[in-house]
Parts: sequence; structure tokens; C-alpha cells
Amino acid sequence: MLHMTKTQSAECSRVRQATVPVTSDVDIVLARQRGRELASEAEFTAVESTFIATAISELGRNILQHAGEGEVSIRIEKQEDGTVLIVVARDHGPGIPNVNRALQDGFSTSGGLGLGLPGVRRLMDEFEIVSHRNHGTTVIAKKWARGCTIGRLGRTARASFERRDGAAGRKFAAVGSATR
Ligand SMILES: Nc1ncnc2c1ncn2[C@@H]1O[C@H](COP(=O)(O)OP(=O)(O)OP(=O)(O)O)[C@@H](O)[C@H]1O
Ligand SMILES: [Mg+2]
Repeated sequence: MLHMTKTQSAECSRVRQATVPVTSDVDIVLARQRGRELASEAEFTAVESTFIATAISELGRNILQHAGEGEVSIRIEKQEDGTVLIVVARDHGPGIPNVNRALQDGFSTSGGLGLGLPGVRRLMDEFEIVSHRNHGTTVIAKKWARGCTIGRLGRTARASFERRDGAAGRKFAAVGSATR
């Protein structure tokens, strides 16, 4: 376990990552654990780490339920405006025909609650789906750390940018099928 001190703040700049193939429920538990470990090393709060772990669970579950198999990768990156945890959930399943509909609360093609994707979008700071029919789905979700000084500054700058941009406090992009 990493104990952060002032002299160890260079840890904020170290790139760490984990990739977990997802073929069964056990893999979702593992991906969730990896996400939590990486988040706590990067100074995310306990609450933020739980948000990240929950988002990873939902994306892993979607891979299993809707695509059969895929992978979840998690990495920490130091970028110019802060430290960010990036989750990429990727599969080569059937794809999502209408991404905007899939993001509505309550929309499900499997008799589920239809709260997974919209929930992930709310839990994370940035969210993007790229999905092509018969070619699979990639979801990219990011959360910015406030633990590192540069992250805190980055977060402030980001928030004001989003306000100027008129977005509802979150960056969001969705790309539907281009191959239909
Ligand atoms: N990886 C994926 N591949 C194909 N379709 C997907 C994928 N992820 C989500 N979807 C589609 O988007 C819909 C909404 O997903 P969402 O996670 O919000 O709800 P759900 O999985 O149906 O139910 P739950 O609330 O249990 O998560 C799904 O019903 C499915 O049609
Ligand atoms: Mg789901």
C-alpha cells in the first residue's frame, strides 16, 4: 500500500495500469478490485474509489450480459491539468444500435433496470461511448483526482471550462453506429 508524503508526490506522475479480461463474474470482482487499488494509490477519496469501482462493475456486467466477453482496462495518467483515472471497457459484441437511447434511465433490452450506463455517466467526470453494430462497444469513462496538488488545480480549471462551455458539469460524447 502506498503512503503518500510530500516527498513522494512524484507518485502522482507515475503511470499505472491494469487490464482484466472479462469472461465471468469473477473477472468483474477482479476488475473492481484493481480499480479500487489504482484509485486509492492515486489519492482518490474512499467515496470516489467506490464510485469508480461501481462504474467498473456496471461496465463489466454489461460486457458479460450484452456482449459475452471483453476486457476492462484501468489506468492512471498524469495530464497537464491533473491526475486522471481512465476506465476503458471494450468488447466485440453486437454493439448498441442507439447509444442515446441506451443512456436513458430505464432503457434496457434485457429486462434489467436500465440504470447501468446512465449511472456510470453520473458517477464519472467524463464519459464516451463508441459503438458500431456487429463490431462491438467501447466505453471510456474518466475521473479526475483531487489528491495531487496539480489535480486539484486541474479540477478547478476544468469546472470553470465546463461552465463556460454550457455543459451540465460533465463532458460527454456518444458515437453511434457508422456501419449500419
Ligand atoms: N457492451 C454492450 N454491448 C451491447 N449492448 C449494450 C452494452 N452495454 C449496454 N448495452 C445496451 O444498453 C442498454 C442499457 O444498458 P444499461 O447498463 O443501462 O442497462 P441494462 O444492462 O439493461 O440493465 P442494468 O440496470 O442491470 O445495468 C442495455 O440493455 C443494452 O441494450
Ligand atoms: Mg447494465
